[in-house]
Formats: sequence, structure tokens, C-alpha cells
Amino acid sequence: MASNKFNYKSLEDLKNDIAKRKVNIKTCEDFSLLSKKVKIGNKICANSFANLPMEGCDSARDGSPSELVIRRYKRLAHGGAGLIWCEANAVVEEGRANELQMMMISSNKDQFKKLVAETKELGMKSNGFEPLMVLQLTHSGRYSRPVGHEARPLVPQRDPILDERAGVKDDSFVVSDEYLDSLIPMYVQSALLAKEVGFDGVDIKACHRYLLSELLASHTRSGKYGGSFENRSRLLLDIISAVREAVGKDFIVASRFNIFDAHPYPYGFGCKKDDMWSFDETEPIRLVKEMKARGVDLLSNSAGNPYYIYPQVTRPFDISSMGIPTPNEHQLKSIERLFYFSSVIQKAAGEIPVVGNGYSWLRQFIPYVGAANLKAKDVSLIGLGRCSFAYPDAPRDIFNNNAMDPKKVCIACSKCTQIMRDHGKTGCVIRDSEIYLPLAKKYRKETAERESK
Ligand SMILES: Cc1cc2nc3c(=O)[nH]c(=O)nc-3n(C[C@H](O)[C@H](O)[C@H](O)COP(=O)(O)O)c2cc1C
Ligand code: SF4
Repeated sequence: MASNKFNYKSLEDLKNDIAKRKVNIKTCEDFSLLSKKVKIGNKICANSFANLPMEGCDSARDGSPSELVIRRYKRLAHGGAGLIWCEANAVVEEGRANELQMMMISSNKDQFKKLVAETKELGMKSNGFEPLMVLQLTHSGRYSRPVGHEARPLVPQRDPILDERAGVKDDSFVVSDEYLDSLIPMYVQSALLAKEVGFDGVDIKACHRYLLSELLASHTRSGKYGGSFENRSRLLLDIISAVREAVGKDFIVASRFNIFDAHPYPYGFGCKKDDMWSFDETEPIRLVKEMKARGVDLLSNSAGNPYYIYPQVTRPFDISSMGIPTPNEHQLKSIERLFYFSSVIQKAAGEIPVVGNGYSWLRQFIPYVGAANLKAKDVSLIGLGRCSFAYPDAPRDIFNNNAMDPKKVCIACSKCTQIMRDHGKTGCVIRDSEIYLPLAKKYRKETAERESK
């Protein structure tokens, strides 16, 4: 089932292709469930849409929100999703994925306070409610690049497949147990700041093979953070407990985690030992139960490693970014996998809401598929990633017009990812082209020059 560019003119076309390819993707023409309120912890989300975290790599050098960041969140607030799951925010300088990654610290917290207040105010003015805002807390681990173009990886274990690509040359790049211990208070500090400035919650990010995600797969690490499941999940769970204790019960503690790495044993999580493409739900389900016991009240599944050669596991696309082979898998198959993962987590999580993903490739048919997944109780909120860059008003148009405009949808062209790979400030090159097309060209040229030296 090779990949094939999106070519559905009608819902019938999509349904026929789903049937032909025998994938388990459902559709539903009653959109009423999309406007259903969702209880998240002790807070109420105004509808069943969430903007997924989408990093713009465009904060100020000190981590505070720049004009572009403020613009992005205002567009999202106008768009009408009940939950804005805000992008990756580093908890320590050395764990930033780029030098303009968001990073809230005590000296810039007032700028974050303004960002949250203005976003919520605009949401209220545009749609009659304040969106919930959850901030994603991260340490980029293997993919840390806190200064300029130089990779400075900090890894939990050596990995013969990924080390060379990430610039890991020897064991000195492996972080110590003491270093990992020292991160717990940093996550707590960031969570307390987030609470102080008005966010509704924080996400302890453990996806996309950043530090806490790779740690879940650190079978070969020795000591208290490696080997057994108990050790590999220790840091994530201890951070969740420490944050929960510090922030109290009325603040959302979430986790977006990788349920499946598509990476071979002993370096991947959620994969069968003898076949990295086969999902083994044993540990992910155990992890959900442990996270619940530690006080998590919102989850989102993701999967795969966007920095490696199978990014379709994370985000199905039509055109790949440079250096990425065309997947030998149809996009509907990749989407089916992501939907299945959300349903596995939702089943294990019970009443705790799960934000699903994998929707953007479906373009104007997102509400049909989202409504069907909500109806089946496979997920509690429909998460929009690239769609939020391309078409932030999608939820609003669905509520007001009962339809998305096919001329505004994300076309899954990977150009926003290409900007990230070129170390630039990113957004939608196609639908927000006035700002991002010139930037995309500039960063491509600079990267080509840098690489030719
Ligand atoms: C440019 C870009 C930036 C992203 N930034 C983040 C991020 O900060 N945190 C995160 O968890 N996922 C991030 N993602 C992944 C998305 O949230 C989402 O999981 C993925 O794009 C699949 O959803 P979609 O099909 O709706 O786009 C990013 C993806 C892209 C393309
Ligand atoms: S550049 Fe725009 S259209 Fe292309 S994948 Fe990114 S969000 Fe979608």
C-alpha cells in the first residue's frame, strides 16, 4: 500500500477508498458531538477541539514570546478550539531544541502573563469563552541545540542507529543519574511559573524521542533510570508526582507521550522485540495506569521519531521534507495507526480525556472523521496539528458553517517541517505565505550555503 497523494473530491470518495484499503477509519455526518464540553481535571473545556502543540521556533532569545508567537496564539484563540495545547517550552537552557525555543523563566514571566491574558481575552471576544491553555514542558535530550547550528545532544543511552545522525560521538554524551535527578525541580519550577502566569495546566512531554521519551526506551542504560520498565518510567512518573504535589488539584497535569517509537528493540518503546513495526501495548498501558495513579488528568498519544526516516508515523504527509524517503505505506494506514493508538490509551485511561491526533492529512473531511471517533468514544478531543498552522479558524468554521473550506486546509507538504530542519522560524508556507514563504526561501538558501562549506 504505497503512499498516494490526497485526491478525494467528496466524502463518498474518501469512504470508498477507506473501504477499498480495508482500513478502520469511520465517518459520521452528525457534527454535534464536536461542540460537546469536556471536563479536564477540575476545569471545563468549551468544546471537543484542541490545537496540538506546534512549535514555531520563533521566541525571543531569552525564551519569551516574540511578535510571531503572540500572533500565532491570537490566531488560535480566534479559531475557537476549546483547548490550546501550547508548544514545547524548555525547562532548562541546555535542553532547548533551538535557540529560539520558548522558555519561561522568572525574568520573562510577565511577558507570558500578557500572552495568556491576551489570548484568553481574544478567545472570549471572538467565541464567547476563554480557551483552556496547557503549556508543554520539555527537555530535548538527543535533539538539544541550544546555541546556533551546533547540535549538543544529551542522551539517556547510546543508540547505534541514531547516534551518528544526532552528533553523539562517545559515552560522554550520556547524561548521569544525578543530572536526571536535578531536572525534577526544574519541571516543578516551570509548572509553578505556568500556574502563576495564568496557564490552566502543564504537559510533561514524553514524545517524539526527546529526553523523557527516549528514557522510556532506555533498555541498555544501567542504574535507576534504565533497564526495567520501573526504572525507564521512573523520571517521567516522579516528575508528574512532584509537579502534581506542587501545583495542587485545580491545575491540569497532562502528558503527551510516545506510545510507539517504530524503532527496534532494545532502543524503542511500545514495539515488539522481534518486529519494530508491531505494536506491543503492554508497557504503554501500564504507563497510562501509573500516570493516572500519580495524578495526571489529560493525555495525548503521539508516536514515532520526526527526526528519523519514518516521520509518517508521527504525521502522515503527501510530500516529504528533504532526505526523507517516500513511505511505503498509504497515508490512511498511518492515520488508522494513530487513531488506534488514541483508542488504546482512551480505553486504558477511562474517564481521563485523551486528545487524539493524525487528522490534518484528512483536510476538509476532519469533522466527519473526528465526529465518528468521538461517537465511538475512541477519544475525547480532536487534536489539530498542522491544520492549526494552516487553518487556525477550522473549528470556528465547522461550528458556524458546518464545513471546512477546502481552499484553506493544510496540504501536508512538509514545508513547515523543512523550515525547522533548516533551523528557521516556522509556520504555514502555503496558507500563511506572506510571512512564511520568504522565510522558507531564505532558510533553504542559508542551509544550502552552510552545508556546502
Ligand atoms: C512544525 C511542527 C512543529 C511541531 N511542534 C510540536 C511541539 O512543539 N510539540 C509536540 O508535541 N508536537 C509538535 N509537533 C507535532 C504535532 O503536534 C502533531 O503531533 C503532528 O503534526 C501530527 O498531527 P497533524 O497530522 O494534525 O499535523 C510539531 C509538528 C510540526 C510539523
Ligand atoms: S506548510 Fe502548511 S500546508 Fe504544508 S504541511 Fe505545513 S501547515 Fe501544512
